[in-house]
Amino acid sequence: GAGKLWGGRFEGGPSPELEALSRSTHFDWRLAHYDIAGSHAHAKALGAAGLLTAAEEAELHRGLDVLSDGVAAGTVLPDPSDEDVHGALERLLIEEVGPDVGGKLRAGRSRNDQIATLFRCYLLDHSLTVADLLLDLVDALAGQAEAHLGAIMPGRTHLQHAQPVLLSHHLLAHAWALLRNVDRLADWRRRVESDSPYGSGALAGQSLGLDPELVARELNFTGSTANSIDGTASRDFVSEIAFVAAQAGVDISRIAEEVILWATKEFGFVTLHDSWSTGSSIMPQKKNPDISELARGKAGRLVGNLTGLLTTLKALPLAYNRDLQEDKEPVFDSVDTLEVLLPAFTGQIATLVFNTERMAELAPQGFSLATDIAEWLVREGVPFRIAHEVAGACVRECEGLGIELHELTDEQFAAISPALTPAVRSVLTAEGSVSSRDGRGGTAPVRVAEQLQELRSRVAGA
Ligand code: ARG
Repeated sequence: GAGKLWGGRFEGGPSPELEALSRSTHFDWRLAHYDIAGSHAHAKALGAAGLLTAAEEAELHRGLDVLSDGVAAGTVLPDPSDEDVHGALERLLIEEVGPDVGGKLRAGRSRNDQIATLFRCYLLDHSLTVADLLLDLVDALAGQAEAHLGAIMPGRTHLQHAQPVLLSHHLLAHAWALLRNVDRLADWRRRVESDSPYGSGALAGQSLGLDPELVARELNFTGSTANSIDGTASRDFVSEIAFVAAQAGVDISRIAEEVILWATKEFGFVTLHDSWSTGSSIMPQKKNPDISELARGKAGRLVGNLTGLLTTLKALPLAYNRDLQEDKEPVFDSVDTLEVLLPAFTGQIATLVFNTERMAELAPQGFSLATDIAEWLVREGVPFRIAHEVAGACVRECEGLGIELHELTDEQFAAISPALTPAVRSVLTAEGSVSSRDGRGGTAPVRVAEQLQELRSRVAGA
């Protein structure tokens, strides 16, 4: 067909079966604008090297602008005979400017260095979108934390009551984890934006005196690839961002799982907003946390994309192999998934209504203040080993009587240990317990308020 980039050494055209297998326009067309930007930059490099007259270069830029408008308008589209976005756009360019000028653009470049560059450009842009969406979720968590400063909930380990914590402290724990993914994206960007592979050619570089740094600058990179084999064959920039997407998905799924639990009758910690929850087609009373369930499910998909990519890359010999065409769909999917998931998830979090009374009522239950007894005894000079034993004896006594720790009488305390004077009651409230954990990073209200400020200033700098 007209869009073939090769054929000189072949007698017959490719079989339809091969074409069907080989074709990638259905997923790489989304790179069309980046391909055109790369062609503008490449035309400049050809012009600067004296391989195009000024008129030829101008004509190429004009033709590329026409294509760009057509792509934006949806009127310029790949043909079934086009193998990939690069071939399609070259065919269309030649249709626009004619074969004499249009046929000059391919000199000194290969689809191998093109795709390695364009894919970076695409991911650099979308990494910013995803980072912004992650920051929106961090903001929503911080907003809920701020709105509920002082509210106490049961803190859990092993899903069992452990120690009371502030709801804000718990929500901010999720926010910090998400913020690290924003950091990871910024770190990834720093590496990728200094590494434009244009000029690497098929694998060995180019012989036409083109300046890869010129192309890099035109495409907003800060530098070009030092090794043309690495430039065309490496895809760690793909698997790395797929990892960040997978980690973000996993972090979101942990929030999701809690929302799902918290919204049950048994927990009763949150009510979902009507606009951010779903009903049942048969059970009229239902209000389901579908956003969180989809988030939990999509985490699996994000992990799968990363796993698939790494499996494709494993043991691939240098340099370019066609296997590498399989790198795009998984990471496009990861980016698409986060871009559709995050706005919904953020809306759900921002509109959650917390039942703080229910949380506060449960916070001291399940003997969650036993550690406070032990630490109070330590402050009274009792060795922790003994304090732990004494507090454990209090729990055993309460379990036998079917009561909570604060319901023990002074006499019962004294019988367990003479060190347990009535003053121990000062720590036998959830409020006393959280307030006492006032070291940096602890759950005391004063520390959590500081922590919120610290998070907010990190977000402002992100
Ligand atoms: N579409 C290919 C890819 O995504 C680039 C084409 C390279 N093809 C080739 N035969 N070298 O990797």
